Amino acid sequence: MRISDFKPTVSGFESNRASNGTRNTYERYAAGFYGEKGMSDLITMDDLTNEEIIDILKTAEKLLPVARGEVYAPLLQGKVLGNLFFENSTRTRMSFETAMKRLGGDVLNLSSVGSSVAKGETLYDTMQMVDGYSDIAVIRHPRQGAAQYSADAVDIPVLNAGDGAGNHPTQTMLDLFTIQQAHGTLEGLNVVLVGDLRYGRTTHSLSHALVRFGTKLTLVSPESLRMPEEIIGDLRAHGGDVTESEDLQSTIPDADVIYMTRIQKERFPDEDEYTKVAGIYKMSADDLKVAKESMIVMHPLPRVDEIDPSVDSTEHAYYFKQAFNGVPTRMALLCRSLGVKVPKKVGA
Ligand code: NCD
Repeated sequence: MRISDFKPTVSGFESNRASNGTRNTYERYAAGFYGEKGMSDLITMDDLTNEEIIDILKTAEKLLPVARGEVYAPLLQGKVLGNLFFENSTRTRMSFETAMKRLGGDVLNLSSVGSSVAKGETLYDTMQMVDGYSDIAVIRHPRQGAAQYSADAVDIPVLNAGDGAGNHPTQTMLDLFTIQQAHGTLEGLNVVLVGDLRYGRTTHSLSHALVRFGTKLTLVSPESLRMPEEIIGDLRAHGGDVTESEDLQSTIPDADVIYMTRIQKERFPDEDEYTKVAGIYKMSADDLKVAKESMIVMHPLPRVDEIDPSVDSTEHAYYFKQAFNGVPTRMALLCRSLGVKVPKKVGA
C-alpha cells in the first residue's frame, strides 16, 4: 500500500496520533499499519506524505554533523546495504555508501559489469540474492519500473536510485533539503526546471514534490524535450501553477531556484535527435547579473556544458553543496526504511 493512499480505518489510530494530528513514521511502523514491507520502500514521491517529507528533512538536519564526520553515530551498526547499480553513478552510489558507513553499517556493491548480470542473470534472481545478503537495497536501473519490480520481488526495503527516465526520489529528497537550507522554506517559491525534462528523472520526481508544497514551476526545455504530458497533467491536477517556456534568460530575474539538468544523451533512441539539442542551454556568470541575490543554481550533476565554471565562484552556485547533501538525506532515508529512530541529539 502506498502511504499516500493510507486511510486511518484501523481502531486505535486516534489515540496514537502525534500532537500535530498526524502519525509519524515510527508510530506507524510500531502500530503495524503497513507491515514490515511497503511503507519502507521509496519508489516514487507518492510513497511519502508532505508530513513525512518534512520529518525526513528534520532527521537529515540532525544528522549533518555525522555526515560531515564530526560525530560518529553507529545507528546502523550490524546492518548491510546492497548498493545495486546497473547504470553509471558517482554521487548517488558514493553518498549512499558514505551514509551507511558513517552510521556504522556495511555496504555490498554490485554493478552489471563484473557480476553474473553480465552472464544473463535476471533481475528477479539477482534480487533474491540481495534479499538474503543484505538488510536494505538501493537500486539504479536503466529500465523504468525496475525499482518497483525489484521491491515486489523481495522482503527487504528497496530505495529507487533512478529507474530509466522514470523517477529519482532520493535525489528529490536531497534537492528539497538543499532548497530548504537556502531559502528556509519549501513553500511559495518560484522554481525553474531547465533542460531535458522529457528523459530527466530528477525533474519528474522533483516537480511532483514541489507542486505539493505550493511552488510555482516554470519548465524550460526545447519542444522535443518537454516534460511528458501525463506529468504536466498530474502537476496541474494537484493544483500546480505550471508554465512552459523555451527561453531560459527571461526566467532568471524572478527565480528563487534555477535547476539545470543535463541532456540525457544515453536515453535518445536516435543520435541525430541528440545532436539537435546538445548544448542548447548554457548558463554563465554574466547571465546571472539580473538574478535575485538569494537565487540559487542547482544541478543534480554531472554537468556537461549547461553551467559554465564561471558560475562556480558566484554566491548562486549550490550544486556542490547539493551533492554533499546526499549524505545526510540518505542517512535519514536509510534509518527510516530500517525502522531505526534517530535520537533528538545525535552522538550525545
Ligand atoms: C542524475 C541521474 O542519474 O538521474 N544524476 C544523479 O543522480 N546525481 C542526473 C543525470 O545523470 O543527469
